[in-house]
Amino acid sequence: MKICNCPVILLEETLSTNNFLKELCQQENLEEGSIVFTSSQTSGRGQAGNSWESEPGKNLTFSTILFPKEIYAKEQFLLSQLVSLAIADILSEYIPSISIKWPNDIYYSDNKICGILIENELESNLIKSSIIGIGLNVNQTIFKSNAPNPISMKQITGKEYDLFILLEKIICRILRYYDSLSTQKEGIASRYKNQLYHSNGFYMFSDKDGEFSARIINVEPDGFLVLETIHKEIHRYMFKQVSMLIK
Ligand code: BTN
Repeated sequence: MKICNCPVILLEETLSTNNFLKELCQQENLEEGSIVFTSSQTSGRGQAGNSWESEPGKNLTFSTILFPKEIYAKEQFLLSQLVSLAIADILSEYIPSISIKWPNDIYYSDNKICGILIENELESNLIKSSIIGIGLNVNQTIFKSNAPNPISMKQITGKEYDLFILLEKIICRILRYYDSLSTQKEGIASRYKNQLYHSNGFYMFSDKDGEFSARIINVEPDGFLVLETIHKEIHRYMFKQVSMLIK
């Protein structure tokens, strides 16, 4: 099976599609864009060491691999931006109020509908490979884990969706942005900023010193989030150094 000319490996069950692809990549030369899809991911991994819940057969859990020659290691946040944008584009065809919560969660209103786990292997100042894992909540209606605010497409619209149609659309859109990278780096960064969750106005954040009210003023090319507090102090944060408090 191929999607957008990329080979697809279909697995009935696996621990984690990111892990499967990483191990496969160590054993053989994979084509760029190769996809691993499973109906049942039994030990899905999320960001910051969290787990990823997905009821078998109900959602999209897949990973793809890229070998980006156009991107320096210091620009790796571009991959997060283009993948987030691609998913936000496709979801917006079905659902309103889709946004990207920094750095790369996809939100519907104040709920998380999709998570992305990108694992890059660097070689000096270049990216040797990038494994992009995507978990999109599609037809699941009950979430059992302690994730704070999951939501699925079915919970929003009441409809069921075909997983392979969504998979194809998302992969093709990721590759479209990826192929445009050589000329579109700034365009991708600016589209990403335009779709940011809570990009206007003051919201509550928390960092190592406690909670505070601030507004987002920028996301820098290296992925740092720049906040301005109500006292006009400017703070720059890397992923995991700050979190936005959700209602
Ligand atoms: C997050 O915490 O927001 C990221 C979740 C990423 C989940 C996907 S599901 C497919 C791929 N395989 C994994 O083990 N994780 C990612």
